[in-house]
Amino acid sequence: MTANELRTMYVNFFMERGHKEIASASLLPENDPTVLFTTAGMHPLVPYLLGEKHPAGKRLTDVQKCIRTEDIDEVGDDTHCTFFEMLGNWSLGDYFKQESISMSFEFLTKYLNIPMERLAVTVFEGDELVPADEEAANIWKSLGIMEEQIYRYGRKENWWGPAGQTGPCGPDTEIFYDMGKPKCGPDCGPACHCGKYVEIWNNVFMQFNKEADGSFMELKQKNVDTGMGLERVLTIFNGKTNVYDTELFQPIMNRLEEILKEEDKELTIREKRIICEHMRAIIFILGDPMKIVPSNTEQGYILRRLIRRVIRLFKKADISQNYLCELSEVLIDQYGEVYPELHENSEFILEQLQKEHILFTKTLDEGLKKAQKYLEQVEKGGVLSGELTFKLYDTYGFPVEFSAELAQEQGKTVDMEGFYKKFEEHQKRSRQGAAGKFAGGLADANIQTARLHTATHLLNGALRKVLGEEVYQRGSNITAERLRFDFSFSRKLTKEELEQVSQIVNEAIEKKMEVQMEEMPLKEAYNNGAIGVFASKYQDMVKVYTIPGYSKEICGGPHAKNTEELGSFRILKEEASSAGVRRIKAVIED
Ligand code: ALA
Repeated sequence: MTANELRTMYVNFFMERGHKEIASASLLPENDPTVLFTTAGMHPLVPYLLGEKHPAGKRLTDVQKCIRTEDIDEVGDDTHCTFFEMLGNWSLGDYFKQESISMSFEFLTKYLNIPMERLAVTVFEGDELVPADEEAANIWKSLGIMEEQIYRYGRKENWWGPAGQTGPCGPDTEIFYDMGKPKCGPDCGPACHCGKYVEIWNNVFMQFNKEADGSFMELKQKNVDTGMGLERVLTIFNGKTNVYDTELFQPIMNRLEEILKEEDKELTIREKRIICEHMRAIIFILGDPMKIVPSNTEQGYILRRLIRRVIRLFKKADISQNYLCELSEVLIDQYGEVYPELHENSEFILEQLQKEHILFTKTLDEGLKKAQKYLEQVEKGGVLSGELTFKLYDTYGFPVEFSAELAQEQGKTVDMEGFYKKFEEHQKRSRQGAAGKFAGGLADANIQTARLHTATHLLNGALRKVLGEEVYQRGSNITAERLRFDFSFSRKLTKEELEQVSQIVNEAIEKKMEVQMEEMPLKEAYNNGAIGVFASKYQDMVKVYTIPGYSKEICGGPHAKNTEELGSFRILKEEASSAGVRRIKAVIED
């Protein structure tokens, strides 16, 4: 089975069962400040899981591109990826456990033809907050799954979410494929990491919202959120043992082998896998319409880390030529049909990879000089301190393994233990920083987020009035405190223009206007003059939010009910975001 056959088979299966297909959302979550990337199919659906009406209905399905960086150190093993595609289906207050489990079972055993003996499932064993999920266990049994195939675990294993620090979550039942190896010990089960069990699907019964104070509130509606890993299912279905042997990785793996042969250089299997896996994540981040560039903060930092890791691995094999673009082209060709944004942004992807390669090579050269200088002061057989090694890493971007190699060449060593101690101290500090930054989270900010979202529409409308209709939204990000809006425009705005924009937004607020919402077919929305950067290639019905005379946008919501809820609007800053894109940060105040 090919990847595309699997995508189609999955989506069709759920469409035949009353689900509507929705488009894969951006990899950059627009309205959740607590995470950097979309980590699951449910992430773009948070407002609807919380009760907002989805224009496509109560049953949805899609293939969502996801990034999970917490698995980065696992990459290179058989199954862990930083980028992956999640096949998902949702019930927004419609069906619940019975139908969800039955549909998953039918798909696995009748469509993928997995023998039921090869499945193992887990259910929530219960705690003080939520009782044991015997209902799910009984449904599995009624379908023919034996008691020995059912495992009961606690919150660590059988509770999913929220995706960020707050949001919808609940107990889940996870489905594993038994690879057929013997158990590694008496306690071996799906929670064991020996490789016998591979998780393929997760059905979450979302009944709770985790609040900013850590408490769990019962949701208005009972939802189902499921996610299945495309890479893993493809591996299993085609009888492979690892994701790199599937058609998803074969073209890039082959090209890499050719490059190594041409260069007469070698890398370990793990290193080759890391290069190919990271390249995929890199082109999907760079290819996202949000146009993230490598930088030292947030998503740009993750992107930079991925790119630099690949460059380092090439350097380690003593290859200095930039092969990143060549490898990207293999992936863009392969994925471009399903994800057209990769073709659309291919020039941008290649340009950024060139730039980062040049920049990092320069950094490495400078780091090398510094490292040489530090090492000159260490006598033969001596040790370079953890502090200086960390400085090389932190200030000069010089990888620790490079310092170690260099030292070794000169008959010296580096204090790795000291380095890691410094490294951990540093990480702890940045974690605390991040926790502080996100204190409050989204949950208590739901109302504020909706207001800022409405303010964003008014701002967009006002900018188009003042600067002209060539202004288009290029990105939006809302935290509990502020909105950030990126738009296409080629120069700095004058003071007068900014004042005019604020004035228009505040005028709409003072007029206490109702924020109207209508559902209509996409075509009609465009015909009525609605704007929106909505990727709705599959969706016929959309929501249009109108503030008459000020804004008309296709958007999922939620929004304030009336503009008066916004208080007053103030622009904090206007600056360049990237070439041809400006950025405004603004707040609303009571
Ligand atoms: N949101 C669930 C997961 O990511 C389905 O596992």
